[in-house]
Amino acid sequence: MRPAGRLVSGAALWLLLAARAVAAIEPISMAISIGAASIITGYFSYCRFAECCPKQRPLNATALQLALEEKLFGQHLAAEVILKALTSFRNNDRPKKPLTLSLHGWAGTGKNFVSQIVAEHLHAKGLKSNFVHLFVSTLHFPHEQQITLYQDQLRKWIRGNVSACASSVFIFDEMDKLHPGVIDAIKPFLDYYEQLEGVSYGKAVFIFLSNAGGDLITQTALEFWRAGRKREDIQLKDLEPVLSVGVFNNKHSGLWRSGLIDRNLIDYFIPFLPLEYSHVKMCVRAELRARGAAVDEDVVTRVAEEMTFFPKDEKIYSDRGCKTVQSRLDIL
Ligand SMILES: *[C@@H]1O[C@H](CO)[C@@H](O)[C@H](O)[C@H]1NC(C)=O
Ligand SMILES: *[C@@H]1O[C@H](CO)[C@@H](O)[C@H](O)[C@H]1NC(C)=O
Repeated sequence: MRPAGRLVSGAALWLLLAARAVAAIEPISMAISIGAASIITGYFSYCRFAECCPKQRPLNATALQLALEEKLFGQHLAAEVILKALTSFRNNDRPKKPLTLSLHGWAGTGKNFVSQIVAEHLHAKGLKSNFVHLFVSTLHFPHEQQITLYQDQLRKWIRGNVSACASSVFIFDEMDKLHPGVIDAIKPFLDYYEQLEGVSYGKAVFIFLSNAGGDLITQTALEFWRAGRKREDIQLKDLEPVLSVGVFNNKHSGLWRSGLIDRNLIDYFIPFLPLEYSHVKMCVRAELRARGAAVDEDVVTRVAEEMTFFPKDEKIYSDRGCKTVQSRLDIL
């Protein structure tokens, strides 16, 4: 038994003995003492059974890098930026503001997947953790008439959850379907304040996922391809400025004219490139391995060839990225 456990049993036993001594005289005190004993025992053993907010669980950068290399395909920019952003954020004991990442790209390029990997490396239980919160626009904030309600709710939830656990993670999926203005409700939390009403938000992580900007990213990728340049030569500086401006001017991005952008509160705009035939094959192989099946190259080719590719003439990029790989494998 670990020392903490011994201490707990010691305390519990002591209270129980005391309770017994009192019990001879007064049954009600005994009940109270036993209650107190179980509260103390309960408190100390709580973190063994339930999840506790990690004080400062160090980020295992090696493990994160490995996960990104093994599971994310065709996204050299996203992998590099995510690793860099998280390591430097976590190595800083007193970040001046929460980490805010905005992930952009078409469906199936790996945005959800990456946010899942990030969540798992910040909180062991990943998306199931009590400290990781996923908001889906069409599910949590569907009605345009209720924007004010959503804004109040969001502020309350974020304040409540960060008060309970400073390293809380908030993921906003389908940003492109979020009504304009909703997200600006949380702007103060993302800003450079040491504290707001006694709560400090510097250790929290906010991740926005969006299809907005997918067209701009594809355009740049195509330009590189047509110029005969390697995809891996695309650099963040080729895309990040285009993305932040494009998203700011796009009424359907969830960040239209958003104060988060003009106040520079988003730390990284992370582009997810459209996936090519070879990447789809990698997804199929990974999915087969994950299912414990042998990697049969015939199956891999068959699934990849069932996907549709664009633009019409060149047919370079998969329409839906790797999104339908699982269901296509199920059919086979
Ligand atoms: C970090 O992750 C690597 C790779 O998964 C693992 O081998 C190593 O033991 C981990 N380090 C710590 C301190 O947990
Ligand atoms: C934490 O966020 C969730 C939504 O993910 C919300 O239901 C809950 O009430 C929040 N907790 C607090 C203490 O505000």
